[in-house]
Amino acid sequence: LASIRVDVSGVTPGTQITVLWQGKPVFIRARTEDEIASAKDVDVSTLPDPEANNANLDPSAPASDENRALAAFEGSELPPETWLVQMGVCTHLGCVPLGESGDFGGWFCPCHGSQYDTAGRIRRGPAPRNLPIPVAKFVDAGTIQLG
Ligand code: FES
Repeated sequence: LASIRVDVSGVTPGTQITVLWQGKPVFIRARTEDEIASAKDVDVSTLPDPEANNANLDPSAPASDENRALAAFEGSELPPETWLVQMGVCTHLGCVPLGESGDFGGWFCPCHGSQYDTAGRIRRGPAPRNLPIPVAKFVDAGTIQLG
């Protein structure tokens, strides 16, 4: 799979960028401390999709916030679970969800109303799975590699 490198040096907590990778949108968000706290304050066993759906982990890894967040770059001053990198493709029928929307403070799919939380986990609506997390890692403090 072709990989790309994305400059995230200008992405500060509370903002996100969308990049295209393999023809699909990828959301890269630096979450606020409130967003992280809200994602952690959820019992994973109550989630519609209890698996992290994270290509960097074992397929059955639980959908905890730790397992959804991208591992921080060593030495970063931001909270370790700041970064969320996920495919911007609704797991229902593939529409692009809107950010900072919906009842769970995360993403809202305008096509049929699926609601995702601040960790990109499906919470309500017809989508069956959490937003997929692609293979990703920090290669330096301001650069994320996808793939
Ligand atoms: Fe997102 Fe149907 S495509 S809810």
